[in-house]
Amino acid sequence: MAQIDAGVAGAMVRESKAAAIESAETGKNVHLKLYRGDASGGEWKEYDVPLDTGMVVLDAVHRVQANQQPDLACRWNCKAGKCGSCSAEINGVPRLMCMTRVSDFKEGETIQVAPLNAFPIIKDLVTDVSWNFKQNKRIQPFTPREMTPEEKVRGEFNMQQRDVDRSQEFRKCIECFLCQDVCHVLRTHKLHDEFQGPRFMIRIAGLEMHPVDAADRLERTWREGGIGLCNITKCCTEVCPEHITITDNAIIPLKERLVSEKDPVAILWRKLTGRKGSSAPLPMAK
Ligand code: SF4
Ligand code: SF4
Ligand code: FES
Repeated sequence: MAQIDAGVAGAMVRESKAAAIESAETGKNVHLKLYRGDASGGEWKEYDVPLDTGMVVLDAVHRVQANQQPDLACRWNCKAGKCGSCSAEINGVPRLMCMTRVSDFKEGETIQVAPLNAFPIIKDLVTDVSWNFKQNKRIQPFTPREMTPEEKVRGEFNMQQRDVDRSQEFRKCIECFLCQDVCHVLRTHKLHDEFQGPRFMIRIAGLEMHPVDAADRLERTWREGGIGLCNITKCCTEVCPEHITITDNAIIPLKERLVSEKDPVAILWRKLTGRKGSSAPLPMAK
C-alpha cells in the first residue's frame, strides 16, 4: 500500500476540514423568488432552500434546480466570476450570481432573481445575448501600422509601457453584459439599433488607444456606435464586476477625441483662430 507523507496527510485533513467548514449547514433557509417563464410570459415563484455558510446566489439557484425544479433554466460555467455567464438581476441590481454571497443580504430577506432586462428572455433566468456578439463584429478589428525598418529587423513593434498600460484595464472584460443591461439607453429606451452600449465603447477605446493600431474608428463610433446617446450617468461603471472605469477611462476620452478631431464647429473654429483646440492632452496614444 502506498505510504502518504505525514505532512501531506495533515495538510489534506486540514484542507478537507476547511472545505467542510466552508460549506457547513446552518440549519436556516434562504428564501428565493425566481422568475419563471419564457418569451410568451412568466411569473414569480418562491422557494426555500437550506442555507450553507459561504453560499452564493448561484448555489441557492442550483439547489432549487437539484431538489425542486429540475426544469429551471440558468446559465453558468465557471462559478468563479470569470466566464460572465451567470449574469442576472438580483433584487433589482445587475450582478453575477456566482459572486453574490447570500450573506450580503439581511437574514430572512427574500432574494429575488430575474433575467437581464435589456435582452430577450429565452427561459427563466436565461436571456438571448447574441445581439452583443453582432455588435462586436461591427467593430473594425486590430489593424497594426507598418513596422519601421528598425522594428522589422527586430521583428517587434516599439511600444511605451505607459501606452500599453492605458488600455490594459479594458482587456479584463469578461463579457457578462451587466453594463449593457444597466444602461438606460438599451434597458429603458431599447435603442439597440442606435447604440452599441458601454461594453463596445470599451472595446473601441481599447483599440483606439492601442499604440500600434492604425485604424480610425471615431466617425463610425459616432454615426453607427451611437456614443452621443451616452449621457455619462456612470451606471455601467458601477455594476462592472471587473471594476473597469468604463465611463471615465473609455467613453469620456472617446467623446473628447470626437469633439476635438471630428466636430465641424470645432474644426472651423480652429481654422478661423489658428488654434489647435482647447482640450487638455487626451489620454490616447494616436
Ligand atoms: S454612462 Fe453612458 S454607457 Fe454608461 S450606463 Fe450611462 S448612458 Fe449608458
Ligand atoms: S465592461 Fe464590465 S460589466 Fe461590461 S461586459 Fe465587460 S466585465 Fe461585464
Ligand atoms: S459562472 Fe462564470 S461568472 Fe458566474
